[in-house]
Amino acid sequence: MNSNLNLLQPYPFQKLRELFDGVTHKAGLNPINLHIGEPKHATPDFIRQSVADHLNRLSHYPTTQGTPELRQSIADWVMRRFNLPAVNPDIEIIPVNGSREALFSFAQAVIDTTAKPAPYVVCPNPFYQIYEGAAFLGGASPQYINTTADKAFRLDFTQLPGTAWPRTQLIYVCNPNNPTGGVMSLDEWRQLFELSDRHGCIIAADECYSEIYFDENQPPLGALAAAHQLGRTGFPRLVVFNSLSKRSNVPGLRSGFVAGNAQILEKYLLYRTYHGCAMNPASQAASIAAWNDENHVLENRRLYTQKFSKATTMLSGATAAQMPDAGFYLWYKTPVSDTEFTKRLRRDYNVTVLPGSYLGREVRGVNPGENHVRIALVASLNECTEAIDRIKSLLNNLGYA
Ligand SMILES: Cc1ncc(COP(=O)(O)O)c(C=O)c1O
Repeated sequence: MNSNLNLLQPYPFQKLRELFDGVTHKAGLNPINLHIGEPKHATPDFIRQSVADHLNRLSHYPTTQGTPELRQSIADWVMRRFNLPAVNPDIEIIPVNGSREALFSFAQAVIDTTAKPAPYVVCPNPFYQIYEGAAFLGGASPQYINTTADKAFRLDFTQLPGTAWPRTQLIYVCNPNNPTGGVMSLDEWRQLFELSDRHGCIIAADECYSEIYFDENQPPLGALAAAHQLGRTGFPRLVVFNSLSKRSNVPGLRSGFVAGNAQILEKYLLYRTYHGCAMNPASQAASIAAWNDENHVLENRRLYTQKFSKATTMLSGATAAQMPDAGFYLWYKTPVSDTEFTKRLRRDYNVTVLPGSYLGREVRGVNPGENHVRIALVASLNECTEAIDRIKSLLNNLGYA
């Protein structure tokens, strides 16, 4: 077996199952699950219909690059959304089966394991677990940058010693961030691009939450837009990952894309041809319909905005929940340890959230996920309101009214 598999940690949901081992929950209270980042708003009818309408296409093998129509609709969306003058659908876009598989396989494609000293992959901490797994199985060591509330969840690149950067081949950033909800500023992008230029590292920008935000006049700045604004023609060493899963409430469609530097994507496409991960033709057709429509996305944001404003109003005072810049997670600071909080919330109130420490690693003496829980406001407004009510009862019981 590949010995790098031994480096993988149990996934956070496995750790959660272990935490709940032997924990019984109160009878009579319906369960409310806010631990998984799975969208629960209805899938728009026109997307479901489009899948059904194109089932006849299942009789053909799809190509790895996807249909020209799909790539064009993605390129058009990217240009509209990020105010870009031109994106070439033939060389700057590849459709992928959701951003997760692409975030993972990208590391296998770009990391040069023959490098001496052995390669590093930099990622934020806490983080979406795929980055770490991709680094390990790509033969690299992950290096973590702690992101904390006192620094507004900014990426402080100086945390890593200068000697780490020449070894760094790949940097994952998550923007908007899961779990903190932070959005990167143009200045952070400038710093990141400078590091990439100086040390030749590739940037993988995970933007799968880019369409979940709360002010229609302030969509999160994306990596391609930042590169364009800074005059970086051709997106040097930059690839972004996006997805319909959260934007269009279709996590089961498995549809996303990568966009960015054409030379990197050319090699990555070659890798994907062998990997065998072309998108199902019915999903491709439905994806075109989804990328071409913004009305359902506006409605989606309206529902999240309603829930976030309700939740943050309810959770105010000493144990206040902070409004994220974007995304659908409350990154909530707990007055007791995150695991204790999670266990009691489940046992006494039948609400499930995720301990923040499970999403982080202890680095330089601290696990920045500790004493936080990730609350995914994915359920209905009523359910989320009920869950926050129960969280308030727990806070009361703990002596934090
Ligand atoms: C930060 C982040 N990136 C990527 C993904 C993968 O999403 P998908 O594969 O559905 O596009 C998720 C899913 O929860 C996520 O939280």
